[in-house]
Amino acid sequence: MKSKERIFHITARLEPTDIFADIGCDHGLMTKYMLDNNLCRRAYITDISEKSLQKAVTLLAPYVKEGKCIPVVGDGLAVVPEPCDFVLIAGLGGEAILNMIEDAYMPPRFLFQPMTRAYRLREYLLENGANLELDYTFSEGLPRKYYDIILGTGYGGDRYSALDILFGRDNLNGRFPHPFLEKAQEELDYVNMRLSRRLPSKLSLHHYQHRREELMEAIHAVKKSL
Ligand SMILES: C[S@@+](CC[C@H](N)C(=O)[O-])C[C@H]1O[C@@H](n2cnc3c(N)ncnc32)[C@H](O)[C@@H]1O
Repeated sequence: MKSKERIFHITARLEPTDIFADIGCDHGLMTKYMLDNNLCRRAYITDISEKSLQKAVTLLAPYVKEGKCIPVVGDGLAVVPEPCDFVLIAGLGGEAILNMIEDAYMPPRFLFQPMTRAYRLREYLLENGANLELDYTFSEGLPRKYYDIILGTGYGGDRYSALDILFGRDNLNGRFPHPFLEKAQEELDYVNMRLSRRLPSKLSLHHYQHRREELMEAIHAVKKSL
């Protein structure tokens, strides 16, 4: 999970703020970037695993000593003892991220990098009044790995189409088309391969046919935007 390219991509989207939180920080590299570059006054690092948090505490020892970085062991955003201006949650599932917000509050500004079910997170954010400024897929390595990134504000009341929710608006509108096109085409090839074989049930046939329609619609939307 500690892949350099992914971390580099995420840190490039971090920005100056007052109180920063890195939830599920593990290694603590993202917070190190914030503190080394003087991008926040105070940073909270949290992890549900004491052992994981300890890695970040060791990495950030001088900042912890001076009180600029505050480690908290525990579940989600709710364990941070003061409201944060910018919340980073990366490398966790989309549903885990939305549960953390639900249990705490909608951050004024956030950067999320969900590993799964990004559509569930988008849906939740939009239903709860957020504005998504950047919402796209990036890739790294060979064989390719794909990641979603969502940067926005907890207010502003954005509107998405159903397809934007499923796949990420900036993948479809021509802003960041290429990694997504590659990812969607890979999945479409897989779905077509499954459909060409004997499927175990009518349910799975329906599932793959439906997914093929969604993917073809998304690929068409991206190509139209180029
Ligand atoms: C895959 S790592 C991601 C680390 C780092 N955020 C990154 O993107 O490279 C996920 C981390 O989240 C922590 N974690 C999982 N569930 C959590 C929760 N409910 N609250 C806080 N941390 C959690 C895990 O212990 C682990 O250290």
